Amino acid sequence: MSARGHAFGIDIGGSGVKGATVDLATGELVHDRIKIATPHPATPFAVAEAVAELVDKAKWTGPVGLTLPAVVIGGVARTAANIDKSWIGTDARALFSAALGGRPVTVLNDADAAGMAEDHYGAARNFAGLVMLLTFGTGIGSALLYHGTLVPNTELGHLEIQGMESEHRAAASIKERDGLSYEQWAAQVSLVLTTLENLFFPVVFVAGGGISRDSEKWIPLLTNRTPVIPARLRNTAGIVGAAMAITGGIAP
Ligand code: BGC
Repeated sequence: MSARGHAFGIDIGGSGVKGATVDLATGELVHDRIKIATPHPATPFAVAEAVAELVDKAKWTGPVGLTLPAVVIGGVARTAANIDKSWIGTDARALFSAALGGRPVTVLNDADAAGMAEDHYGAARNFAGLVMLLTFGTGIGSALLYHGTLVPNTELGHLEIQGMESEHRAAASIKERDGLSYEQWAAQVSLVLTTLENLFFPVVFVAGGGISRDSEKWIPLLTNRTPVIPARLRNTAGIVGAAMAITGGIAP
């Protein structure tokens, strides 16, 4: 973190590697997001090169927080549901640090980062109790926070319901792939949310991912009982959460 309370976060996704300097007092970006297309195949080495290019473009010299769409424990990626399988077992922290001239880096799961940001600065900031954020994208990411403390790497998108993983049932990519109407897709999301609320009893669900931009088209169709609110930080949540993680918010 810089003296001005600024930190740098990078969100690594399937289509873009996006980063910015974040003002930790407000959770706002200090400048426009810098985006580099995610290399294909998105192998660890190729992604690390994109990360180095992005940080170079930003002229940022301090520590960097990064997200991965994977379970991350002690800086090591442990899963790769929707990313190149070569990430499994990769010490992402060591890789990114080396690509950035040996500076300190923190790596965490993408949904965990979004959850921390929404809990602290965004949609869930005024809710006391258990907050569950779900990101609906290529897969379903999850973050569980209790009074601001994250339970890392929850991976609820892989919870099997009636013989099918939740993210194979209700990710935004499934709506797209199968040409589902909002009504049809919301029925699947409702089933996932009802199952989750019966297991965890959160006070609120925060719905993130690109499809949360159209929340008025589908949140009113949901039939589960716990309130569902759209994410507020939208496409900056991962960046903001990654920047927050540097200051010790999380070290899974
Ligand atoms: C991965 C999670 C990730 C989520 C959203 C899932 O397939 O297993 O780690 O958070 O997708 O990217």
